[in-house]
Amino acid sequence: MTEIRLKSLPDTDDYWQYQFDDMVFRTESLSKSNPQRIIPLGQASGILMTYMAQHRDLLQGKRVIEPFAGSGPLGLLALHLGAESAHFVDLNPRVSDFIYHNAVENGIPNHRYAVHISDIEQFRPQEPFDWLFANPPFVPTPSKVLGALHSAAGPDGNRLAEVLIRQIPQLLHTTGEALIYLLQLEVAGRPLASLACEEFLPDRSVEFTKGWQYQLPFESLVTAYRDQLLEQKPAIDEWSSSISEKWGEELIIDSYVIHIGPMGSQPGIRIRNYDGTKYGSGFFSSRDSLQEVVAENLI
Ligand SMILES: C[S@@+](CC[C@H](N)C(=O)[O-])C[C@H]1O[C@@H](n2cnc3c(N)ncnc32)[C@H](O)[C@@H]1O
Repeated sequence: MTEIRLKSLPDTDDYWQYQFDDMVFRTESLSKSNPQRIIPLGQASGILMTYMAQHRDLLQGKRVIEPFAGSGPLGLLALHLGAESAHFVDLNPRVSDFIYHNAVENGIPNHRYAVHISDIEQFRPQEPFDWLFANPPFVPTPSKVLGALHSAAGPDGNRLAEVLIRQIPQLLHTTGEALIYLLQLEVAGRPLASLACEEFLPDRSVEFTKGWQYQLPFESLVTAYRDQLLEQKPAIDEWSSSISEKWGEELIIDSYVIHIGPMGSQPGIRIRNYDGTKYGSGFFSSRDSLQEVVAENLI
């Protein structure tokens, strides 16, 4: 089967636009210095979208949630592919206009979805969901640096992943499943989020699939911050030492897709190397520098 990939369309001054098969999406330009800007689509959303398009049978008639929704690409694609309904959750009130615009552009009527402006930590669904698709903020951010709402994820980059994983038992039916894309610090070969999965999802199968061909040293993220925020060097040094003290030296950063399975089916955590079979060949096209990740995180 030919892989469907996310493609960029020509930008306007204010908006960045994308095409996925016969769908179009609008987000905002990264150059907008607005702490509530709507993040452009990229590898994270693209990989999940390709997987969804190749598994449309899994979505037929399902109730879907997209936490950390932004412009809503994952929930809107699920609706387009045959899901019954989608619920979008985001802290940023500006997402409503973007989700509405993208739904209209793709012929999706508003009775099929709901937008909840809420912190995911406080969100309580009326009924659990069958599928959850998420691209949470995941960029490790020095404590004294004000990162972007869409990317900053606490000093070790795992704050919102942990919040989400803790919520999964309330968000998903026992038969429900989730796909989550994350950048992760690895400690002793294990992504940090696997610790939260062990604690909060002991009865589910949880599969972490590595996304990059090679691993990036945490030190290159520190260097990228130092290069871009020259005046904040002391704060960055302090953060870098506290991370090494907490998690050890020579830390690695990798990207992952986490697939959380239904309850009861072979519970436990499995970490897979990327092998091109499950998430397609596009998964391999990694960024070779963390400069870009840092730049996106700063407003
Ligand atoms: C990386 S963006 C993902 C947007 C979209 N899902 C995508 O793939 O393009 C993360 C989103 O999480 C939202 N967010 C950040 N903290 C949040 C929180 N505590 N609760 C809910 N949403 C949050 C941000 O406003 C942003 O829209």
